[in-house]
This record gives sequence, structure tokens and C-alpha cells, in this order.
Amino acid sequence: MLEKVIKGLNISSDGIYVDCTFGRGGHSKKILSEIGENGKLIAIDKDCEAEKYAREHFGKDKRFCFVRNNFSKIIEIIENYNNNKKIDGILLDLGVSSPQLDDPERGFSFQKSGPIDMRMDKSDKLTALSWLKVADQNEIKEVLKIYGEEKYAHRIAKSIKDSINKKSLSTTIELAEIIEKCYPKNKKSGRNPATKSFQAIRIYINNELQELESFLNSCLDIIASGGRIVVISFHSLEDRMVKRFIKKHSEGKDVPSKIPLTETSKNLSLRKIKTTLKANDDEVALNKRARSARIRIAEKI
Ligand SMILES: C[S@@+](CC[C@H](N)C(=O)[O-])C[C@H]1O[C@@H](n2cnc3c(N)ncnc32)[C@H](O)[C@@H]1O
Repeated sequence: MLEKVIKGLNISSDGIYVDCTFGRGGHSKKILSEIGENGKLIAIDKDCEAEKYAREHFGKDKRFCFVRNNFSKIIEIIENYNNNKKIDGILLDLGVSSPQLDDPERGFSFQKSGPIDMRMDKSDKLTALSWLKVADQNEIKEVLKIYGEEKYAHRIAKSIKDSINKKSLSTTIELAEIIEKCYPKNKKSGRNPATKSFQAIRIYINNELQELESFLNSCLDIIASGGRIVVISFHSLEDRMVKRFIKKHSEGKDVPSKIPLTETSKNLSLRKIKTTLKANDDEVALNKRARSARIRIAEKI
């Protein structure tokens, strides 16, 4: 996966790159190893733990700069940190990082007990539990259905509200148990029944789809001609958004096929780069998370 992503960015030694989802810098480290002295890497993450790690481990590298912010603010970030100069490649590795998942205090895991938090940016006001408390049953049901494609959304939302009313919900394990009880015994597959609901609540709490949409709506203005966009997504809704975005800007809006339009008159700004979308077996063996990953790549014309 890492090699595929780096190849997708088509890195040039003195190029300017942006890693919009630094995490613990796996991709950033590789990008830095590919650029030369005059190259530059701007890394973004909204998580203060990621910022701490970046400053400790990458802070001395003059080619590197870290910005704690939402990647939807990409235009502002490039204005401030790159003097409005266009960039040569931009990477998004969407979703939650392993350190976020592994730390029970962050509340992303249904396997370890912790507060029901799930904020990637701890300065955000709304934790997952505070939202579950204020949201009505229908709102919770819709989130589970839309973002989690959860078949038992109605039952789960009702059970969550019932236990909140009884003041008996405070930890991730309690939430996972409530969800598990809503699944009919014969419908439990290999996957933990809490998987979809936790994913849905996390996506909602962190505005993940809105963040991606705002990013896609603004990123074309800051990429240099020949510059690349590489997006790794783990959720079908995210992948669909990226796929449509690339299609719209590489094929143009729907026009009657009889009208011969040139590339210029269609006002195209991207060229789709063909790649294998999914990780292969070896990549999945190395990193289980890669199983549901999809990579999409496009180049600015
Ligand atoms: C899957 S991890 C990235 C892992 C990273 N590629 C690495 O090699 O370690 C996603 C990271 O993106 C961050 N993130 C998610 N949405 C974000 C957003 N809208 N703005 C900024 N950072 C975001 C998360 O906090 C998390 O650290």
C-alpha cells in the first residue's frame, strides 16, 4: 500500500507535498525519504497527539512543517504555510489511526473499556456520549443507518436511549454490549456487532464526510499542473464521493454524446490515473486494515 501511494504521488525531488492525515507519519516519513533538500512536506492532522508525535520525531527536519487543523481548511493552510504556492501532490489516508483505536481513553474501541468519546480533535465540544444524550432516537437511528449501513439501527437507537434514560451508559464496552443484544443470535457473523455502529457514530462526531466534501470542493485550486491527488478511503460513502469527484473533473458533466466537445470546452481539470483499487493479499497479511482500503489517484491537467 505504502509503495502504491508513493508511486501514485509521482514524487519529484524538489516538489511540495501535503500529507493531510499525518497520524504517526508513516506516509510522511516515506515522502521525506523521496524528496531532496529543496523539497517540502506540509503535514496536517487535527489530533493533538499526532501533533506531539510530529514535533518530537520530525520537528528537526527543515523540509517538514506540521499544521494542526482540519484538512477542509486546505486553502487557508496553503495560504499561510506555503505563501499560496501551488503544490505537487496531496495525500489523504482517511479514517481513524491505529494509536487512536488502541488507546481506550480515546473511546474509539469497542474491545477495551473507556469513555465514549471518539473525538479526533479533543478540543471539539461534542463527545460521542454527549451527542447520544442530546440526540433523539430517530436522529441516532438515521446516523447508524446512513453512516453505518446498520440493519438493526432502529433497535439499537432505542436501546441506547433506554439505557441513557436509566443512566446506565458510560463506557465503550457498555455501548458495545447494548448493540450486541440488539442482534438476533443467528445473525452474528465473525465481525463484532458493534463495528458498524461505532464507525457510524465516529464518522458523525468527527464530521468526516463533510470534511472530505469541503476538501474536494477546494483542493483543485491549490494543485499545480501535473500535481497528484491520492485518496485512501475505508468507507463506501467516502470512496463514492472521491470516485464521483474524479469522474466529474476528468470526464466532464453529462453532455449528449452527439455533441463533440474538446477537452478545453468541457473544462476538465483532472486526469484519472488507473491503479489497482484494492490491497493485494500480501498487503492485507501485513496490515489487516488494508482489507477495506480503496485508493484513487488523479492528476491535475
Ligand atoms: C488513518 S490515519 C492516518 C495514518 C497515517 N497515514 C500514518 O501513516 O500514520 C488518519 C489520521 O487523519 C486524521 N484526520 C482525520 N480526519 C481529519 C481531518 N478532517 N482533518 C485533519 N486530520 C484528520 C486523524 O486524526 C488520524 O490521525
